[in-house]
Amino acid sequence: MRMNTLDRRGFLTFTGLAGAGMAGAGLAGLGLGTPNARAASLLSAPAEGDAHRGPCAIASGNCDPGVAKAYEMVMNGFDPADAVVAAVKFNEDDPNDQSVGLGGLPNEEGIVELDASVMHGPTHKAGSVASIRNIKNPAAVALEVLRKTDHVMIVGEGALKFALRMGFKEENLLTEKSRQAWVQWRANLNKDDKWFDDDQQIQPVGGKKVSAIEKSLMFTWGTVHCSALTPAGDMAACTSTSGLSWKIPGRIGDSPIVGAGMYCDNTVGCAGATGRGESMIVNCGSYAIVQNMERGMTPSEACAAFLKKLCDHTKEKHLLDAKGRPNFNVSVYALRKDGAYGGACIHPGGSYAIADGTAANGKNLRIVACPPLFND
Ligand code: GLY
Repeated sequence: MRMNTLDRRGFLTFTGLAGAGMAGAGLAGLGLGTPNARAASLLSAPAEGDAHRGPCAIASGNCDPGVAKAYEMVMNGFDPADAVVAAVKFNEDDPNDQSVGLGGLPNEEGIVELDASVMHGPTHKAGSVASIRNIKNPAAVALEVLRKTDHVMIVGEGALKFALRMGFKEENLLTEKSRQAWVQWRANLNKDDKWFDDDQQIQPVGGKKVSAIEKSLMFTWGTVHCSALTPAGDMAACTSTSGLSWKIPGRIGDSPIVGAGMYCDNTVGCAGATGRGESMIVNCGSYAIVQNMERGMTPSEACAAFLKKLCDHTKEKHLLDAKGRPNFNVSVYALRKDGAYGGACIHPGGSYAIADGTAANGKNLRIVACPPLFND
C-alpha cells in the first residue's frame, strides 16, 4: 500500500512500496544515468508509469477521448505531431470545455483569445500561435506554422491572418455559457461599481434567481496537453488553451511558449503542463522536466523535482497560502523516450490520461491521479 507522509518542509513523500532503486530502471539502455538523489527523496518509490515501455500517449486528465485517438493514430503510422494535435482538437471543438478553444472563458473584455504550441521530435521543430481570436483550433494553426514557415511563433492579428491564409474559418468562440460566466465575473468585480453584485440583482417576478459565481470560476487556467510516442520511437507534444480566464487582453500564458507549456526532445522525452502559466514560464518548466529526465530521473521524479523547485521559486506573498505554499495548482506530465511516463501536481486534484492499448474499459484510456507535492 502507498502511504503518503510529509517531510519537514511539508512536501509529500511516498513510502511503503519497495525499492527506490526501481526508480529509473530502464534508463541504462538510454544512457541517461541514474536517478537524482533530490528527486528520489521527493518520490521514494516506484510510481505509475515507471515500468511502462513502448508506444503510448499521455495527456492532461481532461483529454478524453483525445488521448486514445492519439494512441490509435501513432499505432496506425501517423506522424506523432498529427496525433497530438488531433488529441487536443476534441477539447478545442467542445463548447462545454471552458478552458480550451470554442467556449473558452474570455479575457477581461469578453473576448476569447487562444494559445497553443506543438513540437515535433524528429525535426526538433516547433510551431506556436498566441492570443489568436476567432479560430477554434489553434493547435492545428501552430502545426501549420511548424510545417509551412521558418518561424516558431506568430501572435495576435498576425496569427489570425496566417490562419485565414491557411484556410481556417473565423467564428465567434464566445458561447452563451461563457458569456454568462464573464458577465457574472464582471458584475461581481468591484462592489463599488455601478454593476449589481449577485446578491443585489433585482429578479423578475417568477424569474430564475441568478446563482452566485462558483469560486472555481473566479480564475481558471484550464488547458489541455498531449504527448505521444510512436512504435518507431518518435515523439511530439502539444498544448492548447484559452488561458487564464478574465486575463488582460494580450496576456500570453505558458501553453504557446516552447519549453514552458510543452517541450519535446526526440532523444530524451516530452513534457507538458496545465495550471498557472506564469509559474511555468519563469521556471522554463517543460524544458526543465525533460532536462531532469536526461539527467536520469524517471518521468515522475522529473515532474516532482521540477514542482519542488517551482515552489521554492514562488516568493510573492499574493501567491502563497497561510503555510507559505503556492496558493495555485500546476500539474505536469512527462513521457520518456522508452515509454515510461508519469506526472505530478502541487496540490491534490491533478490527473493525467494514458493510452497504451491496455485499458479494458471500452474507452482505451485510463485516468491516473497525479501524485501531489502537498497532501492538503
Ligand atoms: N496554463 C495555461 C495558462 O496559464 O494560460
